[in-house]
Amino acid sequence: GIEIEAVTNKGYRLSEKEKLINRDIILNELETSYSEYKYLKDVEVFAYQTVESTNDLAKDYSKEGEKEAVFIADSQTKGRGRKGRDFYSPTSTGLYMSFLIYPHTDFSHAMNYTCMTAECICRAIKKVTDIDVQIKWVNDIYYKDKKIAGILTEGITSIEDGTLSYVVIGAGINIYTPYEGFPEDIKKKAGSLLEYSTDSTIRDRLAGAIIGEFYKSYKEPDKCINWVSD
Ligand code: BTN
Repeated sequence: GIEIEAVTNKGYRLSEKEKLINRDIILNELETSYSEYKYLKDVEVFAYQTVESTNDLAKDYSKEGEKEAVFIADSQTKGRGRKGRDFYSPTSTGLYMSFLIYPHTDFSHAMNYTCMTAECICRAIKKVTDIDVQIKWVNDIYYKDKKIAGILTEGITSIEDGTLSYVVIGAGINIYTPYEGFPEDIKKKAGSLLEYSTDSTIRDRLAGAIIGEFYKSYKEPDKCINWVSD
């Protein structure tokens, strides 16, 4: 099902289309591996080529009413990290995604969503690639002593009752090393999950598995405290 371009006397290559995020493969992974998928029909899954920031898309979407959604992009031009830092988000080699949820719980639970998402990403990576990665409490994921993923959780709280109005959990994962390498300022710390692969579906299947794992766990985010201390 993968589209290949062939040029006589030159060779073959993946078509440009294959390098983009493929929503059909994401949904197929969800449908075939996660029985919870049937409850997810109301969760919109949006896939884009380039956006400024998937966290910002999620925040904008929250103005449309209480609708849960997942935003996935191939690249970001204004990807944001914690402490006001930029998050390097080049095309074709990473996965950038944000969940918009409405937990209706107390503000004190917010951090548990970060922790839960980190766990879900680890499980999804194991499922799709069979690689074991580690959580560096609480927002980062490491593989071979390099940071391969980071999580930024943002939310709006109701001052009146101290509950969370909505939460946006954004995750950026370096699947491959960017073609031009990592920028100078993050070179020492940043790593990637995989060597280059001819399987162009890995990113999409991983996105599907992360969504599946997320919705398996998100009703009980507090459980992650036990998972981590196990
Ligand atoms: C960090 O390591 O400091 C957190 C990085 C979080 C990056 C993700 S990528 C998807 C989402 N959109 C953003 O602008 N940021 C988060």
